[in-house]
Amino acid sequence: MSDKKLWSGRFSEPTDQFVEAFTASVTFDQRLAPYDIQGSIAHARMLARQKILTQTECDDIVTGLETIATQIEQGEFVWSVAHEDVHMNIEAALTEAIGETGKKLHTGRSRNDQVATDIRLWLRDEMQAICAALRQVQGALLDIAEREAGTILPGFTHLQTAQPVTFGHHMLAWFEMLQRDASRLTDCAARMNQMPLGAAALAGTTYPIDRQLTASLLHFTAPCRNSLDAVSDRDFAIEFSAAASLIMVHLSRMSEELILWSSAQFSFITLSDSFCTGSSIMPQKKNPDVPELIRGKSGRIVGHLIALLTLMKAQPLAYNKDNQEDKEPLFDTVDTLRGTLKIFAAMLPTLVCNRTAMRRAAQQGLATATDLADYLVRKGIAFRDAHDIVGRVVAQCVQEDCDLADLSLETLQGYSTVIKSDVYDYLTLEGSVAARCHIGGTAPDQVRQAIADARPSLAARTPDT
Ligand code: ARG
Repeated sequence: MSDKKLWSGRFSEPTDQFVEAFTASVTFDQRLAPYDIQGSIAHARMLARQKILTQTECDDIVTGLETIATQIEQGEFVWSVAHEDVHMNIEAALTEAIGETGKKLHTGRSRNDQVATDIRLWLRDEMQAICAALRQVQGALLDIAEREAGTILPGFTHLQTAQPVTFGHHMLAWFEMLQRDASRLTDCAARMNQMPLGAAALAGTTYPIDRQLTASLLHFTAPCRNSLDAVSDRDFAIEFSAAASLIMVHLSRMSEELILWSSAQFSFITLSDSFCTGSSIMPQKKNPDVPELIRGKSGRIVGHLIALLTLMKAQPLAYNKDNQEDKEPLFDTVDTLRGTLKIFAAMLPTLVCNRTAMRRAAQQGLATATDLADYLVRKGIAFRDAHDIVGRVVAQCVQEDCDLADLSLETLQGYSTVIKSDVYDYLTLEGSVAARCHIGGTAPDQVRQAIADARPSLAARTPDT
């Protein structure tokens, strides 16, 4: 392939070698090649339909591009930094392969609308894969929730024992976070699905192009409505990065709990050996490396979001070379996120609950104190007074290092005469969770109902949502 720059007409001196390497993006943007070719084929077909190219010229271009696509796929294509980026590498190879006609492909087009199109096509596919991976994780969560619908553990606020909850309910909380994440991606994908091609460098083109046709060939909803905006904004990438950051933040929170729960002090769960590693010095160690790494990787993704926001913030219209910097953060976001979701979905089914330890922990910390207050309210005492009475009962339990249910009926009646022997039904863990039986409550029956509602909603999500 000749190394002559495709834009060198007005230049009399060659590019400095360091500048060439500094400005090139082909080392990373070659990943967009299949989408670049897809976009070029659609563009060529539109040009032929509009009689801007002859049908023979179009056929030659399409055949040439298809051959190049195969070469790239098979790793036979030679990428050259002298040709700067994926777009010019492919165009130069096309001209080398089919001759003069190759030079006509770029009619009515610029790399500015080309690259904006390529990234959208690529990200559209990646978002579908991410949504499918999210669904896998969510399915695994529903399976655990089903198995552990009646398993009781302490629920925390401020990481202090608050009220008993069911483990199934806890898994459904995670499920809901990811449900919103999936809908954020769907929203973002819909907004992104507009086609920049036809915007050319920035102002549009003088050829009689048919943007509706190109858009429909590439399955875009419509052409972008403003050429300056089309080549310039990367808000779709930022929006995706924000959605990706939230997914990673959610996975990081889940990981944090998995890490805590698998410590000797909690002992609520064990993760399979295949997702943990040992210590080179302490023989007893089984470290939850996978969740720890996920918690760590969330920082990278949030960092990429900040990078993209900062990249955009001072750019005047329209295209600026700054935008070339959008790719590495985006690529790394997608790769990290997909890898994380894949390993999370594989790890979850290995989670084993230590129901005894969870129960023991729920019995500590006076988790049913609110239930006693609610009991007093049902017997006619105002909530604020009930709160005060139970506070004094709690103080006695703390002093005697016992649970509320360990106190005798006489002792309890010393605090309030409305207390009868049925109080013990409410002081048990089972009584406490079963009583919270409304939409969104922790009662095992509600958890089972929520799972039954969630399953079809998950199945109904089309592959790309
Ligand atoms: N490699 C460039 C990018 O990633 C492609 C567009 C270059 N356009 C230009 N006028 N230099 O943004």
